[in-house]
Amino acid sequence: MVHELSHPVVKTLVNHLRESKTDALRFRHIVQELARLLCYESLKEEPLYKRNIEHWQGKADVDFIQEEALVFVTVLRAGLPMIESLSGLFPNAVSGFLAMKRDEKTHQSVLYYDRVPDCEDKTVILVDPMVATGGSLCDGLQLLTAKRPKKIISLNIIGSPEGLAIVEKKYPDVEIYIAQIDEKLNENMFIIPGLGDAGDRQYNTPE
Ligand code: PRP
Repeated sequence: MVHELSHPVVKTLVNHLRESKTDALRFRHIVQELARLLCYESLKEEPLYKRNIEHWQGKADVDFIQEEALVFVTVLRAGLPMIESLSGLFPNAVSGFLAMKRDEKTHQSVLYYDRVPDCEDKTVILVDPMVATGGSLCDGLQLLTAKRPKKIISLNIIGSPEGLAIVEKKYPDVEIYIAQIDEKLNENMFIIPGLGDAGDRQYNTPE
């Protein structure tokens, strides 16, 4: 299921990303803030466990998310600031990495690096700023599904209705939290209006 974060704070941050004058440092910073907001929303029903802690009035049983049962996975390279942000939020969570590159001619993504740990019975949170054709996300989900996690959540910043529909149809059990669904894909498979190439903009990589 796709959940779009229709919130003024989120819209404002996404629109700062759209601005050409937003430089790489600010762009990465906003991507990190959005990753946290998406994560916050996506874990609103996450079960809690009790742990006995010492505090200023003695001992108490208090609630925590089971951080060790979370696996963050990102798709290089545009998702790097997102995973950095989430592992700051939950430093005891496990992180994994996938590398895919979209072939600009065929528009197919090609997997060239897989460093994803064991996911069995874990909550896997896959992060990538963009869902254009949905090809990269489907490939990532195929790989993660095979690792038998308890649940898969996808956190994305911007996507096309076309790409999201494909992912939703193929992976109906995956909960997709996205900051903004844009108007469409163009003939070159770019999200319109979009925000350009998130990877290039975050790291000043020339086209
Ligand atoms: C971008 C983006 C997604 C993918 C989305 O990565 O980060 O991974 O394209 O496109 P799709 O939905 O059509 O598959 P890109 O291939 O540009 O690599 P990058 O992260 O190195 O910029």
